[in-house]
Amino acid sequence: MNEFRPGLEGVVAIQTEIAEPDREGGALRYRGVDIEELVGRVPYEKVWGLLVDENLEPGMPDPEPYEPKSLTGNAPADLQSETACLSAEWNLKKLVDIDLEETRDDLARLSAQMMAIVAQSAAVRDGREPAGDDVVAEGETAAEKFVLRWRGEADPTHVRAIDTYWICTAEHGLNASTFTARVVASTGADCGAAMSAAVGALSGPLHGGAPARVLPMLDEVARTGDPEGYVKGVLDRRGRIMGFGHRIYRAEDPRSRILKRTAKELGSPRVEVAEELERVALAALQERHPERVLATNVEFWSAVVLDIAEIPHDLTPAMFASARVAGWSAHILEEKRTGRLIRPSAQYVGPGTRSLSSV
Ligand code: COA
Repeated sequence: MNEFRPGLEGVVAIQTEIAEPDREGGALRYRGVDIEELVGRVPYEKVWGLLVDENLEPGMPDPEPYEPKSLTGNAPADLQSETACLSAEWNLKKLVDIDLEETRDDLARLSAQMMAIVAQSAAVRDGREPAGDDVVAEGETAAEKFVLRWRGEADPTHVRAIDTYWICTAEHGLNASTFTARVVASTGADCGAAMSAAVGALSGPLHGGAPARVLPMLDEVARTGDPEGYVKGVLDRRGRIMGFGHRIYRAEDPRSRILKRTAKELGSPRVEVAEELERVALAALQERHPERVLATNVEFWSAVVLDIAEIPHDLTPAMFASARVAGWSAHILEEKRTGRLIRPSAQYVGPGTRSLSSV
């Protein structure tokens, strides 16, 4: 195929057995299982197992004792750098030099540790010592242990909000960060290199960073009481309303539906303003872009659910990365199993041949 498509939109770059959004039907299935069936029934760490091993058991392990090298309290940056450090600290072997079993074990160790790093970085951000392993061991699920490591105590509402959010965002086909992880894995690099590269790709507002911008938007609308004015202002200056639009879905994003329900069930005080802004934004986007379905995406209600768990908004990209360790792991393993060096072509459109003196 020689046709150039900006942003590779619609280009099939891989075949996968893990998950792919059902573009028209608005459903998301992990290994064939609808996420609606998973939320509230199995905890995130078992969903990790479903995605990576196609088996709920044994799931993602607990993190092993490990002291991060230098946490700054900026969780997205800490996660990216500390994950890269793990390659050296654990002497992880290159993917070309190991078998599938060792790859899977490296990914399991990394996934668990990456979650612990985010919790530890969040504690540093709050100016407190992360809780020790004895306190964390009291938790039953990965989400509870995460909150315990961060805060030393775990409110069950916060735990449920985080677990639901993690399950909803654990995997989503060939998004930018997963593609990055697969590109790096396809070169035969180690799993730590692939995972840390994916963290970087996820930190931008057009992929994982949008929830950080949703709450200030809700605050602004709550303050002015004028969602119409807010939405018009953004669209008139050709800005983007965070939490709306999606490259894949041409129907409702199923994750948005589950997260909205969760926000209501858990009694978020932001639901009223969020629903009002959603209604106004959808109408305005439909009017301005009748040619395109611009529906609510995962990030809008994610922001509200993460707020229930009192996650500061600058930490949301790291929360997204914590969830996505499952999808990245599954894709790195699949790349190892089936992949070929990913190396697309570029179409040269620069100047024709010319002499140095003409420059
Ligand atoms: N607010 C306002 N306009 C939007 C919009 C939004 N949230 N999302 C898309 N549009 C508009 C674009 O401005 C563009 O208009 P134009 O053709 O007049 O320039 C048109 O819709 C198509 O957008 P495009 O960027 O080509 O679509 P995409 O498939 O590349 O974008 C996103 C997908 C997610 C990057 C995009 O919808 C977006 O930026 N959303 C806001 C950020 C966000 O919520 N990110 C989280 C994604 S899960």
